[in-house]
Amino acid sequence: MVNFFKSTLVFLILSLTNLSMTSDFNEALDTIEIRKTAMQSLWERIKRLSPYVELKEKVDYDKDLAVTDAEEVLELLQYTKNLWHNSSNLSAKGFTNATPAVWALPKYFDKLYSTAELSANELKEAIINDEIDDTVVAMCNLGNSCGTCHANFRRLLTSQLNNEVSGWSGKYINNCE
Ligand code: HEC
Repeated sequence: MVNFFKSTLVFLILSLTNLSMTSDFNEALDTIEIRKTAMQSLWERIKRLSPYVELKEKVDYDKDLAVTDAEEVLELLQYTKNLWHNSSNLSAKGFTNATPAVWALPKYFDKLYSTAELSANELKEAIINDEIDDTVVAMCNLGNSCGTCHANFRRLLTSQLNNEVSGWSGKYINNCE
């Protein structure tokens, strides 16, 4: 009887541990999904901003929308900054394209985030003030921040490379230094 009780208890503890591991795991998967979606939203805004910065007129896109996009780039950067919990370090299992370097070099990772935020803020200000040269510079810097971080902290499988949206060099507009 004691044995039965003991093994039931062990079973119960095991299943509880298992349960909490499963929910941690699911939470990590959710986080990965959320940050990928947010990164995609960043890319959408950069894509809309590029022709504006290059002065390629578009009827359905104006200064107000450009300012909003720049603001939202900043907000999305600030938002995604908090989506790198340790448990989401799952590149070995193929669940994320974030490399383990994210968790090994947190200071450098954060620094790249800050640089990107700074450029996004400068972009917003330059657009508001109609400073064309500054807008181009800020856009180049921002593109470089996305690109530098990806080069260091994001890895793609060969099979994924084929489906990848174009232009991951970090240069999203022409004439960047
Ligand atoms: C400080 C680092 C960092 C910065 C800055 C950064 N990213 Fe990312 N980005 C990542 C990492 C890491 C991943 C991989 C995330 C994953 O797979 O879980 C990623 C993934 C992506 C993806 C692919 C999402 C998917 O569906 O797999 C896109 C698109 C993207 N980033 C766009 C951008 C753009 C545009 C910018 C600049 C405005 C930017 N990112 C800035 C680190 C960064």
